[in-house]
Order: sequence, then structure tokens, then C-alpha cells
Amino acid sequence: MTVADASLSIAAPAASAAPVGAAAGAPAPSSPCAAGDALVELKDVSFGYTKDRQILSGVTLTVPRGKLVAVMGGSGCGKTTVLRLLCGQIRAGAGEVLVGGKPVATMKRDEMYAHRRRLGMLFQFGALFTDMTVFDNVAFPMHEHTDLPDEIIRDLVLMKLNAVGLRGTAQLKPSELSGGMARRVALARTIALDPQIALYDEPFAGLDPISLSVVGQLIRRLNDALGMTSILVTHDVAESLKIVDYIYFISEGKVVAHGDVASIKASTDPFVRQFVDGEPDGPVRFHYPAKTLAEDFA
Ligand SMILES: Nc1ncnc2c1ncn2[C@@H]1O[C@H](COP(=O)(O)OP(=O)(O)OP(=O)(O)O)[C@@H](O)[C@H]1O
Ligand SMILES: [Mg+2]
Repeated sequence: MTVADASLSIAAPAASAAPVGAAAGAPAPSSPCAAGDALVELKDVSFGYTKDRQILSGVTLTVPRGKLVAVMGGSGCGKTTVLRLLCGQIRAGAGEVLVGGKPVATMKRDEMYAHRRRLGMLFQFGALFTDMTVFDNVAFPMHEHTDLPDEIIRDLVLMKLNAVGLRGTAQLKPSELSGGMARRVALARTIALDPQIALYDEPFAGLDPISLSVVGQLIRRLNDALGMTSILVTHDVAESLKIVDYIYFISEGKVVAHGDVASIKASTDPFVRQFVDGEPDGPVRFHYPAKTLAEDFA
């Protein structure tokens, strides 16, 4: 199932960039959700790892409850940084990061622990523990974060593996899995604790087209079947357009475009077109800044 044609309820303008439908001259949502429906919000967030280099500059984005939202942009634009802000691993230099209406930056230790329990994270390059079986990999967060008896954990692990179609691999080691299967086990581990919010950092990286599509469909189905809200960080425009409800594009630390799937596809915004059509040159330059050719070759 895809939600490519999902149309979303609209309310007050909330984002920092014009929605792409506006650029295309068509009516378009100004925010992916009605006021009060937001589960995750970044409000005018700025952040730099160092004082002399801003990574995010005034990013505003909204993730409605129950939806699957993609955050896309070129390598190094700050996508993983957005996820780290949501987890409370780093704090915004300015602006607010709100989850369920609560600012992550001011959470006390206990609140932060409870907050993280509600998040399921599929890390970029997130490898499985190679010396553990598939079963133990998925059971790991359950043992770490709950006091559930072993027999309950056993049933839960098998249910999670069943959800990704890999119950039969429970006793295998990660080295006995294909890359696509390993990613699905990582998905099972992400949802091990029934998170309210699933964060996926580049879940498609390095997968063949079939595995990629399987993982994409699973992300959509898990979101809907488990009543989660999901944020998908990826460069993969084609797969995202098949599965997500709404897309934010980040470039040079700012949200440069956003919209639902139909408005992104119809957009004439040069940045969106370059990304969607995979053009090597455009608003995102092919050439790294340099002296002119005349200066270098004269
Ligand atoms: N711990 C860190 N300390 C200093 N700079 C960092 C740190 N982590 C990331 N950066 C820098 O911040 C910028 C954004 O990094 P981030 O990992 O968020 O990018 P990204 O959009 O996820 O990229 P990719 O698509 O390659 O994963 C990059 O220029 C990176 O070099
Ligand atoms: Mg990243």
C-alpha cells in the first residue's frame, strides 16, 4: 500500500519555507497538519557543533501524529543532526524542539529517559551485534529497558520478527543474512519497545531495488499497523515519494521546500526539481567553489 495520494488536513502556516505547491502556482498545504495535531515540532531551530559553523539555521518543521514524514537533503545538510536534536543527544542553540508539546532541551533526567523510551531509532549504518543471534539482537532493548520475564520477551521478539517477515531467522547470526534481511532485523529492533515515534536514518542505504522496496513498504506498514509516527531521513527521493505523507527538503541549514507527495511531484521549484529528477547541477552546484578557469589555467 502506498499513500502517494494522501491529502492532508491543513491549518495555519507554520513552516519557514514556502510550500512547493505555492511555487508551482497550485494550492498546497502550508503545514502538514492542523493546529494541535503535531507530535514533533522544530520551531526556528539553529544549531552548530562548533561556534564558527552553523549546521541548521532557523529550521521549522512539523510532524503530525500518525504520519510518515521524510526529511531529505544532500549529504552533510544536517539530517542526522535533526534526529540527534529529537533524541536529546544535542541541544539547539536557538529555537525549540518539541515532542508531544514538551521541549526536549529542558527535560530532566527521568523525563529524558521516558522520552527516549518512546523513540525507536534505526541508526545510520546501524549494524546489528554480530556475535548475537537475530533473536538476541531484537531482544536486547527489551532486556535493557524492561523487567519482562523471558517467556514474554520470547513471544514479543518472535512477533516483531514476524512483522518484518523474518521469524524463521531467529537463530541465525547477522553474518548469515543478506544486507536487506539485516536491515529488516534492524527494523524489528527499532520497534522492539513499541515506540510512539520511529526515527529512521538512511534505512535504504546500500540496498538492492527489491530489498529497498521491501524495507520502504515495511516502514509504511509498521507506521500504520502499530499506530506510530515516523520520521524518515534519506536521500532516496523515488522510494520516499512512494511511501511518505509529507516531505521537507533541507539545504544549507534551511528548509528550502516542503509539501505533500502530489505537490512535490508537480513542483517547479528548481531545488525540488533537481532533487526529484536527479540533475547533477542546479541550485545544488556540481562544482565546489573555486577560482575561475581563466585564473587557474592562464
Ligand atoms: N559530532 C560532530 N562534530 C562536529 N561536526 C559534526 C558532527 N556531526 C556532524 N557534523 C557536521 O555537521 C554537518 C551535518 O552532519 P549530519 O550528519 O547531520 O549530515 P547528514 O545530512 O546526516 O549527512 P549524510 O547524508 O551524509 O548522513 C556535517 O557537515 C558534519 O560534518
Ligand atoms: Mg546522516
